[in-house]
Amino acid sequence: MRVGVLTGGGDCPGLNAVIRAIVRKGERVFGDEIIGFVDAWEGVMERRTLPLTVETMRGTLPRGGTVLGTKRGSPLDTPDGVDRVRETISDMGIDGLIVIGGNGSLTVGEILFREHGIPILGVPKTIDNDIEGTDLTFGFNTAVQIATDAIDRLHTTAESHDRVMVVEVMGRHSGWIATHAGLAGGAAVVLIPERPFDIAEVCERLTRRHARGRFASIVVVAEGATPAEGTLAVPDQTHDEYGHVRLGGIGSIVAAEIGVRTGFETRPVLLGHVQRGGTPTAFDRVLSTRFGVAALDAARRAEWGSMVALRNNVIKAVPLSDAAGQTRTVDLDLVTDVAEIFFA
Ligand code: F6P
Repeated sequence: MRVGVLTGGGDCPGLNAVIRAIVRKGERVFGDEIIGFVDAWEGVMERRTLPLTVETMRGTLPRGGTVLGTKRGSPLDTPDGVDRVRETISDMGIDGLIVIGGNGSLTVGEILFREHGIPILGVPKTIDNDIEGTDLTFGFNTAVQIATDAIDRLHTTAESHDRVMVVEVMGRHSGWIATHAGLAGGAAVVLIPERPFDIAEVCERLTRRHARGRFASIVVVAEGATPAEGTLAVPDQTHDEYGHVRLGGIGSIVAAEIGVRTGFETRPVLLGHVQRGGTPTAFDRVLSTRFGVAALDAARRAEWGSMVALRNNVIKAVPLSDAAGQTRTVDLDLVTDVAEIFFA
């Protein structure tokens, strides 16, 4: 069999571990040929490839990023994009494409499969953990660990100076990283996109906490968190070249407002892409490896139009349509029943 592989969207710790596992199972167990496409869909349309072998993938398990490179954008953005993908697949004798991607790439993959009959198999990737159909995505555990390590460090400087540290973490549409890192790092307040926040209430909570003798606090803000309507003015959003809203900045706004309203000294900390870089945790290496092996198996069973997923700790293939066009938001029970017991 000849299987194509691409990594799409933002990079994520564990991508190389998935590719390595696909290659290992394909080459060693079945004698398959695995072709990597460079720079996501661009590489498929332009036939830019990288031969992937057990030998070339050696040493990549702990490496962050992706050996294939990644880009946003898709064949659906170009008039002849779908035809070019189809031609590449047929001219190169490729049986199907494994797309390792987030919401955007999986949605594109589902359309290419359903509307254009292109054999696609998805592997869910994102540090945001916001893909429907799977209990977890790889990269999330690593991002939470990085954010938690940062919060641990911020506690000591916050305590030394009696400051409120406002830490902005990634999480475009969902507050998974913020909630988990906030819980793990002992934050006083966590603000997530799922629940628009009232800055007056945040300040009251911090003031009550300080009145109880705690003069330092950690506030975790997901980048996609928004104020409840009419409670706090935020600047108009800008967009990147693919039309995505450019996030990053709500933490500074929240920090400044807390400072003005409470008189507490505040500092904003933007963790940004640090959360996506570097080596995956052991947990993510194992999850990525399980996903990669399962993806190759599903490809051999010609389960095109599906995505490998973790459900109740079992890896299985589920329809790509379970994930396409959806966002998996935080289980609010985790926030109300557990997290809020520990917040200010
Ligand atoms: O989707 C993953 C993610 O890391 C989001 O949390 C974040 O908003 C976005 O990617 C950042 O994208 P870029 O790398 O294009 O700035």
